[in-house]
Amino acid sequence: MVPTQPEEWNERLAAILTISQKMNSERDLGALLDLIAREATNVLLCDRASIFLLDRERNELWSKVALGSDEILRFPASSGIAGRTATTGETINVKDAYSHPQFYNAIDDQTGYRTRNVLAVAVRNQKGAIIGAFEALNKRVGAFSQRDEDFLDALASHAAIAIENVQLIGELRRREDELAEQNAQLMREVESKYSTHGIIGAGVRIQQIVRLVERIRDSLVNVLITGESGTGKEMVAKAIHYLSTRARKPFVALNCAALPETLLESELFGIEKGVATGVDARVGQFQKADGGTLFLDEIGDLSLIAQAKILRVLQERMMERVGGRAPIPVDVRLLAATNKDLEAEIAKGAFREDLYYRIKVVHIHMPPLRDIREEIGLLANHFLKEYCKETGRPAMEFSPEVLRRLIVSPWPGNIRHLRNEVMRLAAVARQSVITEEDLWEDVPTPRYEGPILQKAKPQSLKVAVSHLEKKLILDALSTTRNNQQQAARTLGLSRQGLINKMKRYAITA
Ligand SMILES: Nc1ncnc2c1ncn2[C@@H]1O[C@H](COP(=O)(O)OP(=O)(O)OP(=O)(O)O)[C@@H](O)[C@H]1O
Ligand SMILES: [Mg+2]
Repeated sequence: MVPTQPEEWNERLAAILTISQKMNSERDLGALLDLIAREATNVLLCDRASIFLLDRERNELWSKVALGSDEILRFPASSGIAGRTATTGETINVKDAYSHPQFYNAIDDQTGYRTRNVLAVAVRNQKGAIIGAFEALNKRVGAFSQRDEDFLDALASHAAIAIENVQLIGELRRREDELAEQNAQLMREVESKYSTHGIIGAGVRIQQIVRLVERIRDSLVNVLITGESGTGKEMVAKAIHYLSTRARKPFVALNCAALPETLLESELFGIEKGVATGVDARVGQFQKADGGTLFLDEIGDLSLIAQAKILRVLQERMMERVGGRAPIPVDVRLLAATNKDLEAEIAKGAFREDLYYRIKVVHIHMPPLRDIREEIGLLANHFLKEYCKETGRPAMEFSPEVLRRLIVSPWPGNIRHLRNEVMRLAAVARQSVITEEDLWEDVPTPRYEGPILQKAKPQSLKVAVSHLEKKLILDALSTTRNNQQQAARTLGLSRQGLINKMKRYAITA
């Protein structure tokens, strides 16, 4: 670029700076292309200017038809003067457009405009790749000069940066919208999965629970959920959360029994950096659940010290990190579950009465499966359907005999146990009807039917069931050589659930 008339050149340089500034604050591609065209027309003293962008996928050039319009003009990338510039990168400056072999008069025909002279320069991005052509038409007086070429060339390289930025921002916005849509879709799925309608049961006991969960959906009361292992405590906790106004905030579950006393406090409240050498700052579960719900599972296993700390948070709505100096406000809805009898724990002095009343503003008790045998058919079919949906297998069903056996089985691991067995049965079944031939060995066999169905008197049911439960646990422990984890799994219990039952039946390892 050789400035022949320094003053004019300085003016144009200043113009480029001003235009550049305006270009960089534009976020919409259409408006940006308009802006560049308008500014180029003003500086070059010509009729029109347009940027043609290369669409590599379709091998076409496209441009806006006129300033301010949204109409798009498209033509093959090889045609016209702009096409030539965009393909070869050469600058083309012609005084008489119609005399140029490359001139594409179809555009004039289409737009009703009469082109006299043309100046076209390539638009290159920072990597030097051509992304389009910048074309100016009809110099008002005379023809385009060398200085016009230099100016358009300089403006084109600034324009390229602005165009690529705007395209990138557009792409990011599109992806952000896509992610937000995906996220909303997942949320809807989670919500429907844990809506009360995911809680299966047609009888009074389950329906009462469903109605209670629905009734408290708008209040933020603390809820205590009790019941044996595998009865659906966590499921109900999730239903409460996902039905509440906090559904879009986190649901954080913490198993109190799985944490050693020494880690509990930092797990709950977090830890400040540098409390001990090599200790990184950690966000506690209370803070993770901020605005949402904290589900304290096995709350009956918390030490008295931990109970006191949680009580303070519930009273003051503030917590302190380990090693922290200032208390941090927390807004958490607390749901708690246990398979212990907390009133008995209070009597023993192992659970704080004041905490008990704080957490059980509403109390939901989940019945053991043996008390709601009328639901077994419904539940078993539900789990079977779930299995088929998850694995993509065609629909399956149980033979009436198999269903009858499922109904009379003792189910020490409750609904989780039933679910595991249904999944296992479905996986080994060879036909769409699950028959007795598919039954697993340690499943309800006639010997279990005896005490429960035939000889037992109603009042001895409980006793008969506990005998069976104890026997099943002993069997499982002996076949797994006292591996509690494995034994719990075969019984459909959590390890803690098994330990609790072992304590109840005085079974030692
Ligand atoms: N009423 C129900 N309808 C459908 N599925 C249920 C129902 N109750 C429980 N389940 C299913 O049974 C399984 C066990 O439930 P969950 O984990 O909520 O039990 P839990 O009481 O928390 O057990 P644990 O005390 O061992 O932690 C889950 O897969 C859950 O979806
Ligand atoms: Mg649980």
